[in-house]
Amino acid sequence: MSANERPTGHQTKQQSRTHDSAFLKACRREPVPHTPVWFMRQAGRSLPEYLKVREGIPMLESCMRPELVTEITLQPVRRHKVDAAIYFSDIVVPLKAIGLDLDIKPGVGPVVADPIRTRADLDRLRDLTPDDVHYVTEAIGMLTAELGDTPLIGFAGAPFTLASYLVEGGPSRSHERTKAMMYGDPQLWADLLDRLAEITSAFLKVQIEAGASAVQLFDSWVGALAPADYRRSVMPASVKVFDAVAGYGVPRIHFGVGTGELLGLMGEAGADVVGVDWRVPLDEAARRVGPGKALQGNLDPAVLFAGREVVEAKTDEVLAAAKGLEGHVFNLGHGVMPSMDPDALTRLVEYVHTRTAV
Ligand code: CP3
Repeated sequence: MSANERPTGHQTKQQSRTHDSAFLKACRREPVPHTPVWFMRQAGRSLPEYLKVREGIPMLESCMRPELVTEITLQPVRRHKVDAAIYFSDIVVPLKAIGLDLDIKPGVGPVVADPIRTRADLDRLRDLTPDDVHYVTEAIGMLTAELGDTPLIGFAGAPFTLASYLVEGGPSRSHERTKAMMYGDPQLWADLLDRLAEITSAFLKVQIEAGASAVQLFDSWVGALAPADYRRSVMPASVKVFDAVAGYGVPRIHFGVGTGELLGLMGEAGADVVGVDWRVPLDEAARRVGPGKALQGNLDPAVLFAGREVVEAKTDEVLAAAKGLEGHVFNLGHGVMPSMDPDALTRLVEYVHTRTAV
């Protein structure tokens, strides 16, 4: 059966096995035994065991080796006792898989050899098939066998954030070429985002069908836009992605950085859980998002550098702001940084679990 024909409500074995986990309950806004915790970028350079297994293997190559992906994904679960694993990959993996010439440069990020800037360039963005990412299916099969009742979060980059790398050719502070296309050639822009929505939808379906129990759509850089522009020029493509995976019944999380003014719209796009960075307290975020959604967040990652008492006090502030929420998944306001002390993260997981245990 193709992804499009999958019956609504059908669950993989892994999705049934993880159904009663604290993480999935919080996503569904059901009562939880403790507030679940995971960290964006929990796998990676903060962990010595990660640096060891990655030695001499380029980032994108490591994403294509199922045994290595399995090991790296499990590392933070073993060490920190987080409530969910996130599939080890990168947002540009599906773009590489359809044949784009791109690389992830250490300390820089994704770099695209020939940026996408004209209508003719769109022809290079062909559809993604499950065969293109067979290693993802293999890795998730191995992973779910090891994870037991710990849920696996699949993820993808959202159309805007992927477009920003493709149009700029690499990381960018002001996204000027991306915005120039968005404002200057709205039809080309809409077609580009629609292509990316197709690719992203297909990539998320592969992960869900293989056994991911939730998905997160990272629109990391969309906070660069005003709400009216988001609504007009970006939201339709993100809606398309969320609609494409709605029938699976797995929670859909939506996150971006600096998106305080966009939280309501990002929820409206189709998320079940809205990720919040550290700039907006969770009670205020809940007012902006409105009822019927859980929130994820939002300790300022930099707090982890400030010592145990500060981490605990600032965590208490996050938990206090989360008190009246319908559902809360504890996370950092953005990713774990490579220079963070992994022991501080382990202590933080334990602290949240203890403080919120019922
Ligand atoms: O543990 C996890 O959260 C899963 C792993 C993960 C990676 N990338 C691994 C990675 C996830 C969820 C991502 C998503 C991703 N990639 C995003 C969205 C999340 C966010 O942080 O907002 C973005 C914007 C990217 C693009 C990207 N890839 C950047 C900005 C970088 C960092 C560049 C650098 O070296 O500082 C990458 C590379 C990357 N992706 C690394 C990892 C572990 C570092 C490369 C390495 O370890 O060699």
